[in-house]
Amino acid sequence: MTAQILDGNDIAQKEMQTIKQSVEERQRQGLRAPGLAVILVGNDPASKLYVQKKRNACHAVGFHSQAHDYPADLPEDTLLNKIDELNDSAHIDGILVQLPLPSHISTEKVLERIAPHKDVDGFHPYNLGKLAQNQPGLRPCTPCGIMTLLSHTSVNLQGAQACMVGASRIVGRPMALELLNHEATISICHRFTKDVPYHVSKADILIVAVGQPQLVKGDWIKPGAVVIDVGINRLTDGRIVGDVDFEQAKSRAAWLTPVPGGVGPMTVVSLLKNTLMAAN
Ligand code: GUN
Repeated sequence: MTAQILDGNDIAQKEMQTIKQSVEERQRQGLRAPGLAVILVGNDPASKLYVQKKRNACHAVGFHSQAHDYPADLPEDTLLNKIDELNDSAHIDGILVQLPLPSHISTEKVLERIAPHKDVDGFHPYNLGKLAQNQPGLRPCTPCGIMTLLSHTSVNLQGAQACMVGASRIVGRPMALELLNHEATISICHRFTKDVPYHVSKADILIVAVGQPQLVKGDWIKPGAVVIDVGINRLTDGRIVGDVDFEQAKSRAAWLTPVPGGVGPMTVVSLLKNTLMAAN
């Protein structure tokens, strides 16, 4: 078997065209462009790159993008006050604080300070609670983008066996809820799971988000599975690889995401969709 490649760049580009048309339609109705404020604290190179991609995507679809960049020693109170100001701003529909934050700042406090209706990352306990109740509002962007990718495959989620490797706040936990909401059966693997290859081998749908280069080997994968690789890892030779061994997986899976160009662009486009939804 040779897997069909799920091209996130291509799918995201098409979705961005639709978003751009919605922005133009809003403007024809006399409504302003959706506004997104992106807050970056510190100098982490990966975070800087992700934030730049989000800001570029805003410009590409005609959103108003506000950049708030701060040094790593930013006091927590200053950040919370800025969030209060953005919560009250009539020009801003969405607020995103790039994670991780420096350790002197409480991530929980910051995420809970964002008004739930402007929480375009979907990380506020209100929005996560709504997702857990299968009443989704603003949904976390990476899982939301992965659901779009799955809709471009032939997989039927209802009753499918899914395996989520990784239980993070950003991907693993909300992803498991998304799959449950679509009536899949899910196993969630984490650092204390005794036999990860066993759980992987049962999965019709495999999603891996752990940040360990090529952790998942081809012979772990159930033949014909849909494999979604969320990892982005740089090897010492400079190559970028995912959490799944791509070459091995290609001859086992029916559908497979590349790294880069799979999940990453879908995360960004989901953020735009959430911002448009918040504006509407
Ligand atoms: N860091 C890594 N992924 C994300 C994301 O989707 N949102 C935010 N805010 N930070 C991240």
